[in-house]
Amino acid sequence: MSKPIVFVTRMLPQPALSRLLEAVDAEVWPAELPPDPDTLRLKTAGRDGLLCLLTDRIDDSLMEAAGLQLRVISNCAVGVDNVDLAAATRRGIPVGNTPGILTETTADFAFALLMAAARRVVEADAYVRDGKWHTWGLTTLLGQDVYGATLGIIGFGRIGQAVARRAAGFGMRVLVYSPSTTQEDNTITQTDLHTLLAESDFISLHIPLNKHTHHLIGPDEFSRMKPGTILINTARGPVVDPEALYTALKTGQIARAALDVTAPEPLPADHPLLTLDNLIIAPHIASASQATRGKMAEMAVDNLLAGLAGERLPYCANPAVYH
Ligand code: DGY
Repeated sequence: MSKPIVFVTRMLPQPALSRLLEAVDAEVWPAELPPDPDTLRLKTAGRDGLLCLLTDRIDDSLMEAAGLQLRVISNCAVGVDNVDLAAATRRGIPVGNTPGILTETTADFAFALLMAAARRVVEADAYVRDGKWHTWGLTTLLGQDVYGATLGIIGFGRIGQAVARRAAGFGMRVLVYSPSTTQEDNTITQTDLHTLLAESDFISLHIPLNKHTHHLIGPDEFSRMKPGTILINTARGPVVDPEALYTALKTGQIARAALDVTAPEPLPADHPLLTLDNLIIAPHIASASQATRGKMAEMAVDNLLAGLAGERLPYCANPAVYH
């Protein structure tokens, strides 16, 4: 019997890749950069399955062009804002994602950004390398205390909760604003968004990107923050209005920000945000530990193979497809 044919939009880590290649007839896109939209469309046409990354836009027209035989889309990420889930559901195509496995790794990185921004680690490194370290100074590179500060967490799913656990170790007071219902937890205080913005020393974003969260943090929200506030974004870039962020950092409306995600991604080298010293930017690597990326690839392969076999995906982002 012939194997199902699939397109994989980027090289996967081992052992996930070998397992996939044994089970299916796969074309794996070999380049570092993703296939452009026309190539992606061309390569997906006629395939039974698609394994993609968050950099690939999977819209209705791509599914249309793929053909009726396309029976599974497996996204190697927990976020699925790059996939038109409603269109996939309408077409009866289950979409897989990778929840849970990257929770702790992502929370570690959110906290690493928080600490680095609070204690100006990136500026301090540049200061030494630039030959500016002439003596021990009483007021050199003063930062903010993390211990005992108030952390506002926006979005209290798995990753938000994991960040709260880390904050407990630092004796932080944790405020939570969660657009969806949150279970009782006596280590945090649930509040409305405006209270969180006004009272937090650090604000960390952990919500998915959708039409309700697009530019959730804009000019009005920045104006409600304290001047010393540090904003951390490991969720999705467009949750923050980049122009408003630039103004808030440039004018001292907030103290600092640390981003793992930006809008757009990647950020062009001449983007105004990159002129700011009070901003740390990482290239979307919060889940990038060797172990976690390997497990994400395994989950993505599990989802793909289940979909190809006509089985329910172990991790399905559009369970309504089964109704
Ligand atoms: C995701 O999975 O959605 C992260 O942004 C990358 O790991």
